[in-house]
Amino acid sequence: MYLPICAVLYRTGLEFPTGSLTVRLPDMGKLNGRRVLVGITGGIAAYKSVELTRRLREHGAEVRVVLTPAAKEFITPLTLQATSGNPVHESLLDSDAEAGMGHIELARWPDQVIIAPASADFIARLAAGLADTLLSTICLATEAPVAIAPAMNRAMWDKAVTRRNVATLESWGAHILGPDSGEQACGETGPGRMLEPGEIASILARSEPTGVLQDLQVLVTAGPTWEALDPVRALTNHSSGKMGYAVASAAVSAGATVSLVSGPTALEPPAMVSTRQVVSAEEMLSAVEADIDSADILISVAAVADYRPAEIQPGKIKKDASDLTLELVRNPDILAAVAARPSPPFTVGFAAETERPAEQAREKLIRKKVDLMVANLVGGEDDPFGSDQNSLVLVDNDGETALGRDTKVRLAKTLIEEVAARYHAKNPAANP
Ligand code: PMT
Repeated sequence: MYLPICAVLYRTGLEFPTGSLTVRLPDMGKLNGRRVLVGITGGIAAYKSVELTRRLREHGAEVRVVLTPAAKEFITPLTLQATSGNPVHESLLDSDAEAGMGHIELARWPDQVIIAPASADFIARLAAGLADTLLSTICLATEAPVAIAPAMNRAMWDKAVTRRNVATLESWGAHILGPDSGEQACGETGPGRMLEPGEIASILARSEPTGVLQDLQVLVTAGPTWEALDPVRALTNHSSGKMGYAVASAAVSAGATVSLVSGPTALEPPAMVSTRQVVSAEEMLSAVEADIDSADILISVAAVADYRPAEIQPGKIKKDASDLTLELVRNPDILAAVAARPSPPFTVGFAAETERPAEQAREKLIRKKVDLMVANLVGGEDDPFGSDQNSLVLVDNDGETALGRDTKVRLAKTLIEEVAARYHAKNPAANP
């Protein structure tokens, strides 16, 4: 008996409700009038979603619930109708529902989507862009922020493919809540438990758009540049664009209108951001110049090549017995050029250094005449290039602020709050 049950638990991401009780005072009323769509997927933690709908309503939210077919094996629509105060939505191809509130109306309805619990299977479907259930279709069609509270066996959570799927969703701007660590249904202990409903409701209340950049235009550069040597080769670096894309998404969440100028990356353009793709530093400069007049803030996260080959060879460079010497010329410094304009926007640069990052960031702050530099250490054990994590120190004329080590998504959110505070201190008339 034990083995088949365990296999089912493993597949559906069941978890066991144990662990210590964390009591936090809720931020009551912060979700007043906000429309929250709760998506529930198949897992034993689905029972906690009853409590989640109740807590969200206590915070003042209007709640609608969407169940996946697997979720209905764990929890009844009737229970959730009672706790949410609204009809529960289940099927993508229900003609009655489509005549009333169909899937596109449902996708347009919420101010916030929360998937709790989110099984490994559902996370993989979302990361693959599938729209095969009502819930996955809504997630694909909605322009509201999507938060995800994973719940699954700890080995499933640890699998590289799950981590990759979660990172993909984060890079698209999804907010990952948890998971918690503790005892699980198969008797294992580790990370994978869904956060407690009260905690999820409090996080959503706290992460309501702050509007700190409301009505402001933010221009972000991200990714590497590629400096062509010939039609098949280029000089470049290891920037993945993750940090810059996270900054662009965080600026959108803070209410800004965001333009992103991106070097070549494997990332999807973030939602609600107008993105220009470029290749070389010169192209990045042209794209920045096209948008800079209307920008209130420039955040220069791109790892721009300082040099490019003096000439791009028209044909592939052939090898022969001798060594090859390349002549490199200086690229324009985009950040310094913007900061040197007669009425520059608020300028934020990043400094990637292999040693003494804060000290060297200060030297760049002064030399490039920017308002704020963000220092990060590269090349070591915790190299941020390509990673989902980073460790940042803010350097400006008032001193240094360490933001510590965290995911790039969370660091970007904090950075945007810090930038907004400094921008409004410098431009008091623009206070929201
Ligand atoms: O993309 P990820 O994989 O997520 O990695 C993130 C990151 C490590 C690339 C990012 O956090 C970072 O540090 N970006 C800046 C890297 C860099 O080029 O630093 P720098 O010290 O060489 O340049 C200083 C500043 O001047 C930067 O804001 C840069 O965008 C800007 N610059 C540099 C050269 C140039 N020709 N033009 C510029 O605008």
